[in-house]
Amino acid sequence: MLETQNLRAGYGHITVLWDLSLTFREGALTAIVGPNGAGKTTLLRALTGLIPYEGRILLGGQPLAGRKTWDLAAQGLVMVPEGRLVFRDMSVEENLCLGAYPKRCRGDVSAGLDRVYALFPRLRERRTQAAGSLSGGEAQMVAMGRGLMSQPKILLIDEPSLGLAPVIVNEVFSIIARLKEAGTTILLVEQNTRVALSVADDVHLLRGGQVRLSAPAADIALDRLHDLYFAREAETA
Ligand SMILES: Nc1ncnc2c1ncn2[C@@H]1O[C@H](COP(=O)(O)OP(=O)(O)OP(=O)(O)O)[C@@H](O)[C@H]1O
Ligand SMILES: [Mg+2]
Repeated sequence: MLETQNLRAGYGHITVLWDLSLTFREGALTAIVGPNGAGKTTLLRALTGLIPYEGRILLGGQPLAGRKTWDLAAQGLVMVPEGRLVFRDMSVEENLCLGAYPKRCRGDVSAGLDRVYALFPRLRERRTQAAGSLSGGEAQMVAMGRGLMSQPKILLIDEPSLGLAPVIVNEVFSIIARLKEAGTTILLVEQNTRVALSVADDVHLLRGGQVRLSAPAADIALDRLHDLYFAREAETA
C-alpha cells in the first residue's frame, strides 16, 4: 500500500498541497480528480520524488523520504507524465526502450517490447516512426508503453484522456482496465469524472490542494461529485 500522511508540498514559497493524508490500496485503481490547478500533478510529483515535501509518504509501511525518482522506478513506482512527454526525434521503439532503464528490466527488453506491442498493436506498426509525428492518441500509447517497459507495480498516470477523441479515450481506458486486472496498482489523475468513476475502485477529489472527498467509486454519484468539484454547495465531505 502507498500512503501519504500530512503531505505538504509546493514550489518555492508557494504551498500547493495542504496536509494530504491519502491511501492507495494495493491492486486497486484510485482516481484522483479535481479542477485545473487543484494540485493533482503536484501530488504525483511528490509521490515520485520529483519535488521536496513535508509529512510522510510510505510504501509498504516504509518512508520514501530522500529516495530518488530513478530509485523508486527501479522499485516499481512509475509515472506516465502529463502531456505525454515523448522524445520527438526518437523512434517509437527507442522511446519505449528508455522505459527499460531500471536495471532489473534491461535483460528483458525484447520481451518487454513484445508485451507492449501486444497491448498496443498500432505501436508495432509504427515502431520506426519518429515519435514527434504520432497522433495524440498514439503518443499517449507510447508514454504508457514506456511506463510499462519499467514493469511497474504501481503506475501513476496523469490525464491520459486529455485532448483525445472519445474513441481513443475508450481504447486507452480499456488498456488501463486490463493493467488493473493483471494486478497493477494504479493511480489515475483524470478530469473526465464520468470515465474516472467508471474504472475506479476508490476516488479522491482534490480542490485547492486539499482532499474534499475520499470514497469508494461505487458510493459516489456523479452529480454529487460535480457539486463538490465545482463547489456548488457547502462542503460536508
Ligand atoms: N513548476 C511549478 N512552479 C511553480 N508553480 C507551479 C509549478 N507547477 C505547478 N505549479 C502551480 O501549482 C498549482 C497546482 O498545479 P498542478 O499542476 O499540480 O495542478 P493540476 O491539478 O495538475 O492541474 P491540471 O488539471 O491543470 O493539470 C497551480 O497553481 C500551478 O500554477
Ligand atoms: Mg496536472
